[in-house]
This record gives sequence, structure tokens and C-alpha cells, in this order.
Amino acid sequence: MPNTLWRFIDDDAAFVAENPDKISRLYFPLANEFGMMSSITPKLHGDIKTGQHSFLTVPVTTEDLNNTLYNRNFWLYIEGRGAWSMAFGEADETLVEAGFLWHKVIKINKKLGIKAEVLNFVPAENEAVELMSIKATNISKKKLKITPTLAIPIYGRSADNLRDHRHVTSLLNRIRLTKYGVVVTPTMSFDEMGHQVNKLSYFVLGCEGDSGLPEGAFPTMLEFSGEAGNLEKPEAVLKNISPDKKSSIARQGKEAIGAIRFKTLSLGPGKSMSHLAVMGISEDGPEKIFKKYNSPDKINKALSVNKKFWAEKSKKVYFSTDDKDFDRWMKWVTVQPAFRKIFGCSFLPDFDYGKGGRGWRDLWQDCLALLLMNPKEVRGTLVNNFGGVRLDGSNATIIGKKQGEFISDRNKISRVWMDHGMWPFMTLNLYINQSGDKDILFEKAKFFESDKVDTVLEHILLQHKRPFTRLGSHGNFLLEGADWNDGLDMAKEKGESVAFTAAYAGNLFELSDLLEKINYKREIIDELRQKANGLAGRIRRDEWIKINSGHSFFNGYYDNLGQRVEGGHENGVRMTLAGQVFPIMSGIATGGQVSEIYKSAKKYLWDPELKGFRLNTDFKEIQPNLGRAFGFAYGEKENGAFFSHMNAMFAYAFYKRGFAKEGFEVISSIYNMCLNTSVSRIYPGVPEYFNSDGRGMYHYLTGSASWLLFTMLTQAFGVAGEMGSLVINPKLVKEQFGKSGKVSVSAGFAGKRILVNYYNPGKLDYGEYKIGNISINNKSVKELPVKREEFLNLAEKPVNAIDVQLV
Ligand code: G1P
Repeated sequence: MPNTLWRFIDDDAAFVAENPDKISRLYFPLANEFGMMSSITPKLHGDIKTGQHSFLTVPVTTEDLNNTLYNRNFWLYIEGRGAWSMAFGEADETLVEAGFLWHKVIKINKKLGIKAEVLNFVPAENEAVELMSIKATNISKKKLKITPTLAIPIYGRSADNLRDHRHVTSLLNRIRLTKYGVVVTPTMSFDEMGHQVNKLSYFVLGCEGDSGLPEGAFPTMLEFSGEAGNLEKPEAVLKNISPDKKSSIARQGKEAIGAIRFKTLSLGPGKSMSHLAVMGISEDGPEKIFKKYNSPDKINKALSVNKKFWAEKSKKVYFSTDDKDFDRWMKWVTVQPAFRKIFGCSFLPDFDYGKGGRGWRDLWQDCLALLLMNPKEVRGTLVNNFGGVRLDGSNATIIGKKQGEFISDRNKISRVWMDHGMWPFMTLNLYINQSGDKDILFEKAKFFESDKVDTVLEHILLQHKRPFTRLGSHGNFLLEGADWNDGLDMAKEKGESVAFTAAYAGNLFELSDLLEKINYKREIIDELRQKANGLAGRIRRDEWIKINSGHSFFNGYYDNLGQRVEGGHENGVRMTLAGQVFPIMSGIATGGQVSEIYKSAKKYLWDPELKGFRLNTDFKEIQPNLGRAFGFAYGEKENGAFFSHMNAMFAYAFYKRGFAKEGFEVISSIYNMCLNTSVSRIYPGVPEYFNSDGRGMYHYLTGSASWLLFTMLTQAFGVAGEMGSLVINPKLVKEQFGKSGKVSVSAGFAGKRILVNYYNPGKLDYGEYKIGNISINNKSVKELPVKREEFLNLAEKPVNAIDVQLV
């Protein structure tokens, strides 16, 4: 597994990448919970914004990262040697060091005699700023006379204006020069539906390391670049022009840039100079914000607060195995749901769609991980989120950043994704089991687009009633707008999703079990169970297909002509992964069927080169009666990519049914691919999918992160709740115990920190071992699950060791 791109450098999962500037599509997120969202690349590219309508720098997609010049930059004009850019200047060596949550580029140019270090981060404090600290060291043997210039183009408006009224919106710019740099406050935010008076300022301010003031600034693009130059060859730098106090060029209503000129310094061999920049978006005085960060001390303090903030998030759940890379990689996976909470599904370079906010299913899936970390905090959010459900059981599809902000449809296209109704219960069920808080079911919640209020349970029942009013001719729920696979969006009338009919049936089983445990009305329980059994029996009987090769698996879909999608076909066997995952997860597939499915998936979906399961086989033709997905090239996104999310759910389903070896194989396939960076070409973490070249795509913002964490903790390590009691039920396979025969996981349970240690001295495999002695803080536990009361009595330390012998 060649990890040629980066290696971890400490236990906090910081890493170093050598020459990552040679990889065209790499990016790294910088953000805070106040809503600042940045992306940054080894060439200091990427954009900085707080939302769709407030971009400090020009919005970029992945294609732009290597092909446009609108990046952060710091120029050095070295007398007698010329100008050099820290962003894209020639370098003998480029390193990126990065961690939670900071990014440092180190570049060495031996000919010029310069080592540059550029550190960027978004402080965890309540401020919409990105900080940049720049250090240049003279590594030559001669004294160098250097004139430094910071250059950050200020876009200062809505992403919508990138093409639409780009010039007209620049006319709104009011540019103010301060002694620290450039502040742009557009007079209005442009919207032909109704222009708004604008109060936001976009600013780039800077100073020397010892807080010395800049010499001046070139606040417009034209002044900085010159008539003949551009951002790659700015005349202000190349000709070493001094900034003018009163330029001959009018400075209002122009494209702006935070191009700040600093004093020329003579730097002896081995000596360094440093500069600081604060780039931000705010209604308050930029200078006031700048003063919070205008010295190396202040920046260092903000950096350590920031590191601590993110490191703590990454450690809410953490694994200690023999494979240290795996443990550290999981730390990145663990914080990914927090990234998606901040960025939504729109604001990193691969995510060049949407206008912010998260989709309904994304919201509920991210909650899976968030509640494993902070169940108390999540309670309110869960109840509030049920306010997105309509009285007919459908729901708002976009969730805004503010608590309780639901948006009916993206781009005002009204659609119902037929799977949406099943995710909330899955998440709520996990919450109830972890916490024992059954009362949440009877908590009152609002309805979307209605004044009515009813219990959370009533919301859930409505969500599970609705699909029965949308039955297709084969007895499955209609596909409607699409299901989990957003790309199956052309079979609205007659298409059916067997996959998600199975998922709903699974929910109905779980819901009836839950209601039974809390002694809820018997008639409702019976009705739910009857419905679940009806669906399950029919799917097991009618949708199980056997093809000529002797392989068997479930059909997952019917198209808009009412035709069965999967099975033998003249173009080759057709099979989907989703069609298998949910019958397994819901318990519909019998044990024998699970084994058959595994064999068929290995035969038809497994890619021997990428060593992972694809989302579907190659249908070799478009499917206008099923969805746009099949318009995508095969192996890309929803048409047969190695898609992390469905794979993570595949692993979960296997584990849940006691197929630990198969679950582990799927988890390993995702992990191995992420670390096989000569192919996947991404920083640590899990991407949405691997494309036909094996490249990791749509990195960071993906539901697969939640599912991986959820699966690892509650299934592989088997640390979970059951109505508030602590379950210990490991499904770890022999390989996972490594040489030491011991693995651990640290997590929270019932408001306490636990460290569960598994000892497997006999190196027994799953199925061979049983749980022997188990103790909490050295006191033996009599029975499993550990009753919540007993657990709380025993777990009296800040970190409570739970030692489990596997015999
Ligand atoms: C993304 C979307 C998700 C959708 C999936 C398949 O997956 O965010 O809503 O279900 O594509 O179309 P993710 O990577 O978030 O799991």
C-alpha cells in the first residue's frame, strides 16, 4: 500500500506531505464554528467565505485550483535576484505540514537563497477571520535586500456574481485604505429581486512580525498588476514600484486586492523576517479585530487554542490498535462530521453545487457521529430537527445553519426523496439506546409549514405511514424523486426502490421492538410488526433473484416502465450494492442469503484493481427510465464508483448480522484505498468516493465518516448502548489484535469517559472467543449489558478502564 503523499508525524494525527504541489486537486479545510470557511492548497489557492453571498476571495471549484491565479500570495522582491512568489514560485522542495486545524507550506528555493514558511488557520474563536503568518529565511551566504508584498485579491460579494454582473457588482465597491491594509465595503449586495444595503466589510490587514506598520498598499487590481501584468506578473512587484498615497487611478468601484507593501529589509545569512495577515469578513470594525492578532504572540496563542479545540473533537472517540496509521486516520474521520456541520455540502472545492445548508439525510447521518460524541448536546438538535417533518410525513429538504431553519427545496424544485423518512428514526433509535432517554419520544416538536405540534413519536409514525400510500405495482415503495442515490431521479411514476422498502421494513421492526420495551400501546406495536413482516416476507420471496451463473442476490429497483432493473441482462449481469445492503441491515436477508450476497458482490461488484466494492455493475447504456446516474461515465460518482458511504453501510450491515470477517474486509478496503495515496491522492480522511482512476473525490464532506465511526465503535468494537445500559459485544477479527493481542477504544458513555481494553492473549478470531472476565475500574461486572446504574456506580474516575478478557 504505497502512501507516497504524506506521513503522520505525531499522535495528534498531524502529517507532512512532500511536494504535494505536484498533485493538481489537493485541498485542505480551515474553518471555525462561527462560520468561517476556507480551503487551502499547497499553492495557497482556495477560497475564503462565510456563505454563498459573502466570499472574501473569488469562489473556486477544483478545476480552478491549478488553473487560475486568484490565490493567497506573498511576494519577495530580492534586489539583484528578482521577484518570487511563495504561492507558485519555483521551489526545489515544497512541504505541507498540516494538522487539527492548521496548514503550513514550507518552500525552499536554493538559487534565490530563500526558505519560506506560510502558516494559515482559522481561529476557533468567534471571529470570521483567517490568519496567515509568513516567515522568510535567508539560506544563502550573502546579505539579501528584500521587499515583501502580501497579495490577496478581495472579491467581496456573492458567488452568484462570479458570472452574473461581475463588473456591475465591482462598481459597488467602496475601498478604504487603513494604515494596516485594505477594507472593502460594497454599498449594496446585488440582487435584482431586491437589492440590499450592505454592511459587511471584507478586509485584508497586515503588519510586520514586530507589529511594524506596512509602507502602504495597492488596493485595486489594476494598480497592483499594471496594465500589462496580471496576478502572476504583477508590475507593482516585478518593477518594485512604491505604493502611491494618491494614485492616478480612481480607487472606488474597482476590483479590489489586499496588496500590502512592507518595508524593504536587509537580511543577513541565516536571518529571518516575519509578517502577519488577517483576512476577514465582518460588520464590526476590522481594525478592532486585527488588533486581536497583530503580533506573533497573539497568533501563537490563537493557534494553540485552535489546535486544542480540534484535537479534543478528534479524541471524543479514539481507537488504539497495532496499526497506528489506522488510529490516526480515524481521528480525521472522526472530525469530518464536524466539518460537514460547518461547510454543509457546498463550500469546499469539489462541492461546486448548492448554496449552503445540508441535505435532510446528511443532517441526520452527521448526527449519528455527533451524538456518539455529545449525546447531551444533540438532544435539543434532534427534537428541533423533527420540526422539518410535514404533516403528510414528507419533509423540508435543506437545513440552514440557524437552529430551526428549514428550506423546502433546493433551487425551488420540489421533490420527495423516498428514503428521507427513514433516517430520523435510525438516528433517534441510536440516541435512545445510548442514553436510555425514552422520554424524547414524547417530547413535543413542530411540523414544517404548519402550526401543529405533536410528539416526536407521532412524527416518526407519520414518516413511516407515508410510503405505504406510495406503493408501486410490485408492492415496493415508489422511488419518487430518488432515494439515497440522488442519481436515480428519472423514475418518478413507476420506479420502485426495493432497497429502501427493505430499509423502512428494518425500521418498522426496530420501532416495534423499541415500543415494546417501553410498554407502549400493544395494537400499534402489532400493526407495525405486521407491516414489517409483510414487506420482509414479500421481498425475501419475490426480489431474490438467481442468475445463470448460479449466483443469487436481491433486486433493488424497478424502473419507470415497471421493469425489474437487476439480474441477468444481454449487456451483462446488473447488480447494485444498495439493493443488497438494506435487506441485510434490516434482517430481511436470511443468514444463507447474506453469504450468497457476499459471494455475488465479490464476483460482480468487487474491483480487483481498486480492491473495493462498486456501487453497481456497468449497465453499458444510459437509463432514461431510471436516472441521471447512468449518464455519468461508469466508475464515477453514483454510477458504479467505489462509494464510501454505501460501503460503510455495507460493512455495518455485515457486522450487525454477525459477519465480522466480511465487515472488516469492507472497512479495510476503504481505509487501504485512502492510504494508497499514490492512487487516491488525498490527505488523511475519507472521501465521498474513489473515481475510475481511484482518486479520492469530494473529500471531507461525506456521510461515510459518520457511518465509519458508528460502525467501528458500536459494531467492530461493540461498545454501544441498549436502552441506556452498556453493551460490550466485540466483533473484532484476529488481524485487528496485531502483535500485542490488545486493542482499546476511548469513548464517552452516560456522561463518563471510558477506555475499553480488549485482551486477546490467545489471538482468537471472532467466533472463537467469548467474553471472559470483565471489570470496570478493576471491579468485576456480573452481567452484560452493564445496567446503567451499576455502570454509574463503578465509573467514578475521570477515565474509567473497562478491561475485557477474550477467552
Ligand atoms: C452524497 C450525498 C448524500 C447522497 C449520496 C448518494 O453522499 O451527500 O446525501 O445520499 O451522495 O447520492 P455522502 O458522501 O454524503 O455519503
